[in-house]
Amino acid sequence: MGLAYETKREDDSLESQYHKGVLHLCETGITKIPNKYIFPIEDRLRNTLGEEQTAECVGLELPVIDFAELQGSKRSQVLKSLSKACEEYGFFQVINHGIPHDDLANMIDVAKEFFELPFEEREKYMSLDLHSPVRYGTSFSQNSDKTFCWRDLLKLTCHPLSDMLPFWPSSPVKLRQVAALHSKQIKFLFLMIMGAVLESLGLASSSTCEDDGGEKILKQFEGGSQVMVLNCYPQCPEPDLTLGMPSHSDYGFLTVLLQDEAEGLQVLHQGKWITVKPLSNSFVVNVGDHLEIFSNGRYKSVLHRVLVNPSKLRVSVASLHSLPFDAIVRPSTKLVNEANPRRYKDTDFGSFVDYISTCDSKEKSFLESRKLS
Ligand code: OGA
Ligand code: NI
Repeated sequence: MGLAYETKREDDSLESQYHKGVLHLCETGITKIPNKYIFPIEDRLRNTLGEEQTAECVGLELPVIDFAELQGSKRSQVLKSLSKACEEYGFFQVINHGIPHDDLANMIDVAKEFFELPFEEREKYMSLDLHSPVRYGTSFSQNSDKTFCWRDLLKLTCHPLSDMLPFWPSSPVKLRQVAALHSKQIKFLFLMIMGAVLESLGLASSSTCEDDGGEKILKQFEGGSQVMVLNCYPQCPEPDLTLGMPSHSDYGFLTVLLQDEAEGLQVLHQGKWITVKPLSNSFVVNVGDHLEIFSNGRYKSVLHRVLVNPSKLRVSVASLHSLPFDAIVRPSTKLVNEANPRRYKDTDFGSFVDYISTCDSKEKSFLESRKLS
């Protein structure tokens, strides 16, 4: 009895240690990763069939969308590539987006500076409440994850910006200014890309549409939700045993990701994991669950994950965009007809957050739960 109690207490104190994050764990100078971070072998395999990855797939690249061309005379051609990318990959990279390179470098730098702050400073923003507008946390969904992933994160809710800014960390001193600029630049880019996505679905020309046509929904996005997640994946002594993020899909309409020069992101494509080669001065954009639902399944919210490495801390900034928090997301009536019946139930943001707060393995289960049989 006494022994069992001692063991239990040891576990509990370790548990609470893990909630302090991976950076904190690394500061203790470990050479092996604790069991808590070791994923089952099937989650770490190179592809879903359990075979080794073939050379052909390692080199496969994501479709590239030239934003400048999209805004110019080649728009209709680029819209076709965009639609193909959203149908076949659920992912694309955006180049020539017009955001100054220095601004992107500043954003990555300030994210790194935040994660380099002493633990006592970062700890001020720690919260177990997934609804909290600003939250320093770890793993994926740390209240319910059985296995913890090798990631610390700072979540910044961006809308409405002037109301949220006072809650953002006051240190490093540049953080609020740099991250606010980034959030505005990304919001603009998102609105332009979302406009193109709607047009590619055949919706944007319906300017007089009264229900959920392109024009109206684009207006809703202007006041829609935006959450920025600064991700930190520290160097890992046993990178093959764990994951920076397990396989998941994103919940919103589109995620716009800025990553530093270290590799890590993998996208599931035709049963194989493709490593995304970071393209300098570009963004990785992906379709989220809400866009899959809105497009009635035409555009795909695809599973992706993050690998970690032994030598380099990796930082990324993901901006997740959707409709206002309480809006109902449902298949566009224009995309539902007899030949293509409605495939998803209504959903909203709140139900998603509640769902991930209580589920362990996320995978595609939220989206699955919204499917009509
Ligand atoms: C995410 C995500 C990928 C990365 O934040 O949802 O998938 O490379 N991030 O950090
Ligand atoms: Ni993601």
